[in-house]
Amino acid sequence: MSKFQGPDRGYASLPIPFGWFAVAMSDEIARGDIRTLKYFGTEIVVWRGEDGAINAVDPYCPHLGAHLGVNSSVQGNDLRCAYHHWKFNGGGQVTDIPYNKDIPPQLKRGCLPTWPVEEKDGVVYVWNHPKKAAPKWELAGLPDCPDGDWVEGERHEWLIDIHAQEITENGQDYKHFNAVHGVQGPPEGDFTLDGWVRRNTVTAEMVTPRGPMTGIIDAIATGPGQSITEFIDVCHVVMSQQVSPIDAEHTHLRWQLYHPAGISDGKMRVTRARMRDLVRQVNQDIPIWNNKIYRTEPLLVKGDGPMLAYRRQYARFYQFDDVEPEGMAA
Ligand SMILES: [Fe+2]
Repeated sequence: MSKFQGPDRGYASLPIPFGWFAVAMSDEIARGDIRTLKYFGTEIVVWRGEDGAINAVDPYCPHLGAHLGVNSSVQGNDLRCAYHHWKFNGGGQVTDIPYNKDIPPQLKRGCLPTWPVEEKDGVVYVWNHPKKAAPKWELAGLPDCPDGDWVEGERHEWLIDIHAQEITENGQDYKHFNAVHGVQGPPEGDFTLDGWVRRNTVTAEMVTPRGPMTGIIDAIATGPGQSITEFIDVCHVVMSQQVSPIDAEHTHLRWQLYHPAGISDGKMRVTRARMRDLVRQVNQDIPIWNNKIYRTEPLLVKGDGPMLAYRRQYARFYQFDDVEPEGMAA
């Protein structure tokens, strides 16, 4: 008798979107470190050279197939394969073969596939595109701090058994905020799409130690993998969120929560309470995410949020042949 495998939840057949996705925190990879990271249903080997630059390549040596994340070493700015000590630079070019000073030109030009990699606000991002198209947009940065500098107050991460599309759909699902999170009052949502960017501005009742109050939540998602949300009321919290597909059924969610430097003890208490409340909300969503199925045609009624508009925009990240979204300036 076969073992019960569980239902087909409908996520394995969804594509993995293209875009910039977080694969590590910058301070997790020091100079000379090598990491094998599992995202997009594959592996990526990253290393940080002595120059401080981070590099990302496919895992297997083009020479005889050794895994470049196993027993390899960083030498200067290059990665040295353990098997025959060939060295590769971040451009995937062979820079040294210890037993052959005449490196064949095609190996010098590059023979190891690379991934575009960038760091922003302490996060390492890789550009994923199944057809290896070049990056189509730039990473977003933190907003200007109204007073002084942002301080990273808290950092969180979760591994969730669901497709990445569903994590960010949550923000357009206005009615679950009441049912799941106990947020009082209907959130007034303002939802706009502009090219690769989605913006949700929601006015909502928030729980604070001084009782409920009306606050503004302004979320700007740049592509499928990155969003920056400002929570503005008595305190000012910025949530920098990264949603990274491990594969079509598993997602790595990261948060860095920022507040302005030098705030009063009173504001700090409210800030801490806000951060706790945000984390509580994710922890309430996770059991639903880990067990739900994908409804291709959900039975939406009046009052539900703009999930279908969200999905129409998100579908653009599955268009792997080169097309620009509507409304994009040439
Ligand atoms: Fe939620």
